[in-house]
Amino acid sequence: MIEKIEKLKIKAENDLKSCVSDKDFEDWRVNYLGRKSELSDILKNIKNLDQDQKKVVGSLGNKTRIELEGKFKDTKNRISGTIGTSKSSEDYSLPSRHISMGKLHPVTLTLREIRKAFVSLGFQIAEGPEIELDKYNFDMLNIPEDHPARDMWDTMWIDEKINKNGEKMLLRTHTSPVQARIMENQDPPIRVIVPGKCYRYEATDSTHEWHFYQVEGLAVDKNLTFSDLKGTLYEFAKKMFGSETKIRFRCDYFPFVEPGVDMSIYWEGKWLEILGAGMVHPKVFEKAGYKDKNLSGFAFGMGPERIAMIKHNIDDIRLFYSNDLRFLEQF
Ligand code: PHE
Repeated sequence: MIEKIEKLKIKAENDLKSCVSDKDFEDWRVNYLGRKSELSDILKNIKNLDQDQKKVVGSLGNKTRIELEGKFKDTKNRISGTIGTSKSSEDYSLPSRHISMGKLHPVTLTLREIRKAFVSLGFQIAEGPEIELDKYNFDMLNIPEDHPARDMWDTMWIDEKINKNGEKMLLRTHTSPVQARIMENQDPPIRVIVPGKCYRYEATDSTHEWHFYQVEGLAVDKNLTFSDLKGTLYEFAKKMFGSETKIRFRCDYFPFVEPGVDMSIYWEGKWLEILGAGMVHPKVFEKAGYKDKNLSGFAFGMGPERIAMIKHNIDDIRLFYSNDLRFLEQF
């Protein structure tokens, strides 16, 4: 029996030397180490041998099996060229396994930059609900029911329209309702930004999504002026787009500010609008219950996707939310 094993080993080693292709190696493995190989047979039948034979044959058989397995791996690796030396599976020159690393979403990165800029200007950060009451999204912002300005925001109403107080609910169309919520709960001075998600009943195209982020801003204090608005937003633009950035304001209409403006930055030869802003409308103060006549304030609302698109030269807003790793991995 011992002789048989030794002969088998020599034959196996010789045969191994002539293996070249993957198929040769696989055939060799099945033939010499497979479940039906001669060696497996010998090992399986050890139990039928007598006591002292059992020990010797068992240990030689197993030793041979381990040696053949080692030689098989080494030879196969050497021939297929991936390793070159005989350190088998512990060879540190093997290419490492690919570990995929998660990354922050480009909009998250932009939101963080915006936050950082305003925090450095003394603003706090607040949040509000995405399912909002009609009252905060419109009424408190000087947009009464049936006012045509409601058409500026294509609204997704919640089917279950009525909450327990009989009020209508919707997916907020902008972050401005949080202005009203903050003023209702807090006395001036206020300096706050509100990042959050908004929703609009809108067909999507390269510049419109049905859901997107906004960052709202609100400052209320005694005697704040339009210069404060301009100065703050100018500082922001410089922090966000570089110290040489030029900005431009133009008149615009939003029911909750007066005067209202939009602001553009000059970017690669073009004026690009990045936000709406204005001085808080007296009606909004009134609805919030602010009575002090010396109070004034400014508010603004910007789209972080739009800012990210400008900064990173992205031509389609839908890329942000289509989960294509080829896009997302670039940030
Ligand atoms: N809420 C406005 C919008 O969604 C933006 C805005 C905010 C304008 C605050 C003025 C002041 O279009």
